Amino acid sequence: MSKADNFKVTPYNVAGNVDYEKLISEFGTKPITGELMRRIEKLAGESHFMLRRGIFFTHRDLPWLLDEYEKGNAFYLYTGRGPSHHTHIGHLVPWIFTKWLQDRFGAKLIFMLTDDEKFLSEEKLDLNDTHQLAYDNALDVVALGFDPSKTEIIIDTDYAKTLYREALKIAKKINFSTVKAAFGFSGSTNIGFIFYTSIQAVPSILESVRKGERVPCLIPHGVDQDPHFRVTRDVLPHLGYYKPASIQSIFLPPLSGIQGKMSSSDPNNTIFVTDSPDTVKRKIRKYAFSGGQPTVEEHRRLGGNPDVDVSFQWLRIMFEPDDRRLNKIREDYLSGALLTGELKEILIEKINTFLAQHQEKREKAKNRLEDFLIRD
Ligand code: TRP
Repeated sequence: MSKADNFKVTPYNVAGNVDYEKLISEFGTKPITGELMRRIEKLAGESHFMLRRGIFFTHRDLPWLLDEYEKGNAFYLYTGRGPSHHTHIGHLVPWIFTKWLQDRFGAKLIFMLTDDEKFLSEEKLDLNDTHQLAYDNALDVVALGFDPSKTEIIIDTDYAKTLYREALKIAKKINFSTVKAAFGFSGSTNIGFIFYTSIQAVPSILESVRKGERVPCLIPHGVDQDPHFRVTRDVLPHLGYYKPASIQSIFLPPLSGIQGKMSSSDPNNTIFVTDSPDTVKRKIRKYAFSGGQPTVEEHRRLGGNPDVDVSFQWLRIMFEPDDRRLNKIREDYLSGALLTGELKEILIEKINTFLAQHQEKREKAKNRLEDFLIRD
């Protein structure tokens, strides 16, 4: 947390204008250097735009993980989502990258849906709501095309027996002061949160528990989740496990401006994966913060600022993987040749094409959920 800098990033609160460079030093993670990027690309056999563009910008222990991989000690992937609402497009950023890692490294994936966590954190949701939402969100995971033979989806309350046993062992090694400092808890925080981090830790040892030997784990996640895994990493060696490695992404900004993190609680700031084409059109046209000039005349003369323009940023982070096309859009916007309205139409078209396909796959996923879910 960095009150002096006017931003704050914890798993339970992202506020202010997030300075990702500062976060690296505050959290004590490592930047993804050009050299590391090339190493990943070489092993993957191709490059990924989210790496090239610094969308995934920081990590923990990646060189170690790749060393192990090169020695034939394959890693598995772990990521997750707190089901508090329909999935929004910002959630898909790490999932799309995780899918790429699964494909390129042949890695197994454990995907955790934390209905327990969201019950604790969302005032208005009861356990049936978050459980239902976990099933709803699982459709989006399946729709992205993860390999069913290599992917397990855990809904916490449906896998509680296994999770609880391992979480207890982890919880016994974490003290209250550590959790309080890592998450910014106060005297009025409900006590469920204090234990919860040990539940979120479990998938990072689950393969090792099952196999009876240490298996390296890589966690792709949004940078706000780092406090959980920082605590996890401190504890696991004491229990005889590897520390999980991580690769961490920036947030997709809300429509209202490039600061902060998209949140489901403000529907006009967010695009849900279930939004209709007309809703997408309306939200982008009306709410997407523009880096353009107030009048067409001025825009033609002075050009726009893609760095603060939400439509441009969404193209950069997620919707325009082609570097040449993205650069052309950037240059045309900077020169004033491309107007804000036109830029927004490019984005609307991209999102609606993506969502049309996603929604179709999401429908089909309803019959395939059982290929992915595990229970105990
Ligand atoms: N706590 C996360 C959330 O609120 C959900 C989650 C559980 C997660 N395990 C994870 C996210 C691992 C990323 C990686 O969304």
